[in-house]
Amino acid sequence: MKDPNLLVGFETGDDAAVYRIGEGLALVLTVDYFPPIVDDPFAYGAIAAANSMSDVYAMGGRPLLALNVLNWPVDQYQEELAEVMRGGFAKAQEAGCLIVGGHTLDDKEPKYGLAVVGMVQPGQQVTNSGARPGDLLVLTKPLGTGVITTAAKQGVANPEVLERAIKAMSTLNRDAAEAMQEVGVHACTDITGFGLLGHLRAMLRASGVGARVRLSAVPLLPGARELAEQGVAPGGTHRNLTSVSAAVQWSPEITQTDKVLLCDAQTSGGLLIAVPGERAEALRGALDRRGVAFAAIGELAADGRRTIEVLP
Ligand code: CO
Ligand code: CO
Ligand code: CO
Repeated sequence: MKDPNLLVGFETGDDAAVYRIGEGLALVLTVDYFPPIVDDPFAYGAIAAANSMSDVYAMGGRPLLALNVLNWPVDQYQEELAEVMRGGFAKAQEAGCLIVGGHTLDDKEPKYGLAVVGMVQPGQQVTNSGARPGDLLVLTKPLGTGVITTAAKQGVANPEVLERAIKAMSTLNRDAAEAMQEVGVHACTDITGFGLLGHLRAMLRASGVGARVRLSAVPLLPGARELAEQGVAPGGTHRNLTSVSAAVQWSPEITQTDKVLLCDAQTSGGLLIAVPGERAEALRGALDRRGVAFAAIGELAADGRRTIEVLP
């Protein structure tokens, strides 16, 4: 059944669905939850909430209401559970999003996240299908959270390195989303489990373009490269690399470690924005004014095969 009010469904692999409910209003709907990514329960709650709301920001929307989605072992770790909830509530409050209920299920392995309802003006939603040749690719958070949290689980991450990764994962993509909406961009998605190249490939497929990415321009969290060089990486990162490889043309200078980092499975990663060249300066200004760190990591190219060319 086709509903003209469904502005974005799941066919284009977008971050959230968008449904028009009136002249000037569309709802943005998404849900995301996952097992503890860090030991600190408050940080885990905050990261999970930031990650769930990020899919609304990636569509250019603003989160309004949310429901907790929680799996937890019954009658166990009640103090930690309270901390997870506190972390989630604090992050939602920072975003101006109300948590109004939720659902809990008994499960040996904890999992937490939010089902989020956001809003956007119909027509103002930013999908991943609008990218055009010549657009600049802008990334708003450094990569490496998969490698670093895996190292932490193995007990080999230094505390400052983990602290920086937690800070990055807890940061809302709100300011970045506001900046891109102020300027007007062609496409956007957020970088999560499929890694930079996996999410870029989804954008290329939806938009029918190719891309060039410059490794030297891609920001990494401190410590990520050293850990990846030691062979630390989550299973998801290796799966990402395998699955994206057919679509990637690697320059001969690109090492195995580089490839792992570009495919590293992220949690609550940054926004990947395709901005038309003539608005790139305005986007830089809008991000700078809000104190959002970012990097221009490459550009889009006319390419029917939708290849990702990775240059040094
Ligand atoms: Co997403
Ligand atoms: Co998601
Ligand atoms: Co229920």
